[in-house]
Amino acid sequence: MNILALETSCDETSASVVSNGSKVKSVVISSQIKIHAKYFGVVPELASRAHIENINPVIAKALKKASVTFSDFPKKIHAIAVTVGPGLSGALLVGAIAAKTMATVYKKPLIPVNHLEGHLYSAFIENKSIKPPFLGVIISGGHTELIIVEDFGKYKTLGRTRDDAAGEAFDKAAKMLSLEYPGGPVIDKRAEKGNPNAIKFTRPYLKGSWDFSFSGIKTALLNYLKVNPVKNERHLNDICASFRQAVAETLCFKAFEAVEKFSLKQIALGGGVSANSLIRNMFMQEGKKNKIKIFIPSLIYCTDNAAMIACAAYLKQKKCGLNYNNIQLKPDPSLPLENW
Ligand code: KG4
Ligand code: ZN
Repeated sequence: MNILALETSCDETSASVVSNGSKVKSVVISSQIKIHAKYFGVVPELASRAHIENINPVIAKALKKASVTFSDFPKKIHAIAVTVGPGLSGALLVGAIAAKTMATVYKKPLIPVNHLEGHLYSAFIENKSIKPPFLGVIISGGHTELIIVEDFGKYKTLGRTRDDAAGEAFDKAAKMLSLEYPGGPVIDKRAEKGNPNAIKFTRPYLKGSWDFSFSGIKTALLNYLKVNPVKNERHLNDICASFRQAVAETLCFKAFEAVEKFSLKQIALGGGVSANSLIRNMFMQEGKKNKIKIFIPSLIYCTDNAAMIACAAYLKQKKCGLNYNNIQLKPDPSLPLENW
């Protein structure tokens, strides 16, 4: 089954054609980083406008790469999928309207997908063999969640962030350090050259809860900088390495505590922060030590992309079929994770 999926929930306009949830025939991602960088965060109105400009060329490119012409579309594409939330209202609307239009014109089923499910199943694109139960660790710019995936579409959310998401913490830290947006990749790169033990930032483990709180690490950095302004490149790299270490250890500690407590044997990471080199290594090493299988998507499937939406849609239709009401499909900016 070939699914054409669209993802426009935040600042990436993406379209992808995926066969049977794992054979990616094309994935096109148009990033808006340049537009939002000067504001140090995504400006919703600018994001919607850019999605409107980008959506048609991005779809056309994805279809062309997958060797689908508009005339053989009805034969080659069997369903359309689209992110319906959570995300920015105007941004979601652009993808939803494009998907609805194509589904109506070509008389195709339209599968609504929760953005979090895209991240949860993104490791499946390259690892068809993962079978629930597993612990899903979603770490992105908007979310930090520990979710037990008991079965496809059957979730138990253990905890989430009480304040900043992990990616948001990286982005805010970068701003404090006068580095570029988005902060995650910049801090990650500098951290590779720094000493992770130079500064001991707090690890907010929140004992007795599965929740996270990253604003504490961020405040610790702010307080540190008030007393110790950045002296030189080496000092800056040490700060980045120490900050990254604190975030990575916090995430890793809680995730492995959860797999032990709930007797799980697999962890699947997803979301932009799972592109972080230390987090990837730390999870792999801990996994080896504790005999837990770790699945981390390739970098392209960590940040927002439509291939993960196609993958989630494929799994969803396998369990629930293709009977959705195309006309009534409506994006919801605060869509909760729901069981199928
Ligand atoms: O999943 P994503 O593309 O969008 C959301 O759904 O939020 O994640 C974007 C976030 C940004 O906060 C960015 O700084 C972070 O992912 N990120 C990273 C890295 N690459 C992207 N954080 C840490 N290390 C990275 N290498
Ligand atoms: Zn995302």
